[in-house]
Amino acid sequence: MLENINVLLADRSYCISVGSDIINNLGQQLIQNDFPQRIAIISNPAVDNFYGKAVYDSLISSGFNPLKFNVPDGEEYKSLITLESIYDFLIENQFDRGCGLIALGGGVIGDMAGFAAATFLRGIPYVQIPTTLLSQVDSSVGGKTAVNHSLGKNLIGAFYQPELVLIDIEVLKTLDPREVSAGLAEVVKYGIIHDADFFGWLEDNVRKLRGRDPETLIHAIKKSCQIKADIVAVDEKEGSIRAFLNFGHTFGHAIENLSGYGQWKHGEAVSVGMVVAAKISAQLELCSQEDVDRITSILKALGLPTEPPDFALDEYIVSMQRDKKVKQGHLTLVLNRGIGKVILHKVTDISSVFSSIL
Ligand code: NAD
Ligand code: GLY
Repeated sequence: MLENINVLLADRSYCISVGSDIINNLGQQLIQNDFPQRIAIISNPAVDNFYGKAVYDSLISSGFNPLKFNVPDGEEYKSLITLESIYDFLIENQFDRGCGLIALGGGVIGDMAGFAAATFLRGIPYVQIPTTLLSQVDSSVGGKTAVNHSLGKNLIGAFYQPELVLIDIEVLKTLDPREVSAGLAEVVKYGIIHDADFFGWLEDNVRKLRGRDPETLIHAIKKSCQIKADIVAVDEKEGSIRAFLNFGHTFGHAIENLSGYGQWKHGEAVSVGMVVAAKISAQLELCSQEDVDRITSILKALGLPTEPPDFALDEYIVSMQRDKKVKQGHLTLVLNRGIGKVILHKVTDISSVFSSIL
């Protein structure tokens, strides 16, 4: 069964379909969406090995003309150099404005292929087929596309919405358990920022979530996508409440950057970042110690790290100061008020805020 969530953005509105057996019916879905006939499928060797053939065959049997292009697997390849190889492939194969692109993979592929779609010939249509839990609950929705710079995460990018997001939960069966946990970190984020009842439901369903129970996963994915879709519909370009989605990310991005891209999974870094944010919130009396303990406990139970790696405070500060969220030297942190609500908090003295936590 297919369940649909709509991202309402006027003429850039689109549908997120969640269910099973979606990949095998991809061609039919794209016909319904009037997607261009000539398509580049951007993936990596690991994902292509599992799902490339099913995607390709479904497109061929529906009369599309697909070509595959794989980039190396890993966060360290989410770079301008890899992006250039995608442009090379598109140009060498005479892709024009009447063509489309499919991002088949996790958040790395989705962000990078999305940015290629945003910029190639000033923009061609693309579809997200997220294959990790993290990309299904977060990165494939909302149109943030980017590549990393050696000095910071996602520093080069664009807001560019897909035509369609197709979430097939069957693909989660081949995912490494560490990747499932990383995706669940972003699911927990939605509970903390927006929905205390959902947070409680997650606490009650840790075992089923880690065990990839299909019904439990579908509920968690739908709920996450709905919360994100509602936020993006109000604030597409992060002028206001979309910043709430960055809960745990400022510190998380610093961990990813300092440890060298690819060492920490994005979701793992966000897990630690959320605990750090919750501790700062408690220090400012925005939440109780019990809230911090609940957040720490669920993340641990989901197999996630909760302690920061051992970098010097100064290194963390320098890295956080390069964050996209820094404006005129001020860092805006997302802090939790209890569980289920967050606020934006402007920090002038970053050092003093973090020194008592780290
Ligand atoms: P990822 O894309 O690196 O995927 C993780 C690993 O899983 C990779 O080795 C990949 O090959 C493998 N894989 C993917 N699907 C698989 C499957 N079905 N079966 C087996 N293996 C599979 O990592 P990720 O966690 O999906 O994404 C992280 C990225 O997403 C980061 O770059 C982060 O910045 C970005 N992100 C973006 C947004 C956004 O709004 N655009 C939000 C959150 C995260
Ligand atoms: N992952 C944060 C956002 O999409 O805004």
